[in-house]
Amino acid sequence: RTEPLILGIESSCDETGVGIVRGTQLLVNAVSSSMEEHVRFGGVIPEIASRAHLDAMVPTLRAALKEADVTLADIDAIAVTSGPGLAGALMVGVCAAKALAVATGKPLYAINHLVAHVGAALLDESLGAVSPGDLTAGNDGGLVVGNDGGRPGRFENIGALLVSGGHTEILRVGSIAEDVELLGSTIDDAAGEAFDKVARLLGLNYPGGPAIDALARTGNALAIKFPRGLSVPKYMGTPAEPGPHRYDFSFSGLKTAVARCVERFEAEGQQPPVADIAAGFQEAVLDVITAKAVLACRENGISTLLLGGGVAANSRLRELAQQRTRAAGIRLLVPRLSLCTDNGAMVAALGAQLVMRGVRPSGIAFVPDSSMP
Ligand code: KG4
Ligand code: ZN
Repeated sequence: RTEPLILGIESSCDETGVGIVRGTQLLVNAVSSSMEEHVRFGGVIPEIASRAHLDAMVPTLRAALKEADVTLADIDAIAVTSGPGLAGALMVGVCAAKALAVATGKPLYAINHLVAHVGAALLDESLGAVSPGDLTAGNDGGLVVGNDGGRPGRFENIGALLVSGGHTEILRVGSIAEDVELLGSTIDDAAGEAFDKVARLLGLNYPGGPAIDALARTGNALAIKFPRGLSVPKYMGTPAEPGPHRYDFSFSGLKTAVARCVERFEAEGQQPPVADIAAGFQEAVLDVITAKAVLACRENGISTLLLGGGVAANSRLRELAQQRTRAAGIRLLVPRLSLCTDNGAMVAALGAQLVMRGVRPSGIAFVPDSSMP
């Protein structure tokens, strides 16, 4: 094989990930999560995440090398997430990667975490056991809907909707190595964060996304109407004269609306209808993100939309994204879940693209950037 063997390291949030790929072929995706340690706090505690990365980094690296049956000497280059993310958490992965690069003399690539989420879709395995009709959340299957149903040819000019506990962005990817543009993002909470906060208001456990997803299936999404952030003409503008937040998101007003709604029921001595609230809230988030992602694709000549991040597991999001992309003639790609959530394989996948396209390594002088654009 002539394709490069790349080791990827991810530590931007609560997942310690080490992935190994050969070109576009996934060999190993080893992930150790500290989520359990954050549950009782109702959110990721940066200091705990950093410590957990320290504990998990070497064992995860060892496990990945063993599973791939390779040694560090076989690796052609090392790639590591250098931002955006939690500063202390990023530091652990970056220091590990620099140490490995110095010790082995291998080239090192600093990787943008968001672009890596898009890079995950480049792996041959990302669409996995493709079952276009399968909308069940929680399985590890990928999803391809529309047009030829095949893989994205040269993987150029695609749109990406990234939704997780840490980010909510629409990207335009002209070329994964050098032309990635941020079209829109949240101006306050991330979508997953909104799920987690609302889950807490409804008395559900953290992380709240899966709990709301399940509860919403038993509720009526039309019973209570919640606000669609940044969707009014003042922010949207028109195609000719785009408003200041045409492709942006806001979820803090929605979260407050849910809190007020719960309070109203309690003030009247009634049990809040949690299933209807969960369904109405979920619909408000997903309505806006799918509508704006499709709009951004249409207005930027993009015919393929990629979904990434932990919220891509949401069953209603998969359904709505499928309906709306199909209606707009846009192809939808949802990588298998283990590649949608944070992992080292996506970092390695992007590293492999950079190596194959002859991009120069980053050297070892770079510093992690928690707010990397
Ligand atoms: O990508 P991820 O594992 O970690 C980062 O935040 O980077 O995403 C975790 C987020 C959490 O906020 C979680 O509540 C949300 O993804 N999530 C979901 C679902 N599964 C996970 N949100 C909605 N519906 C789901 N089924
Ligand atoms: Zn992420």
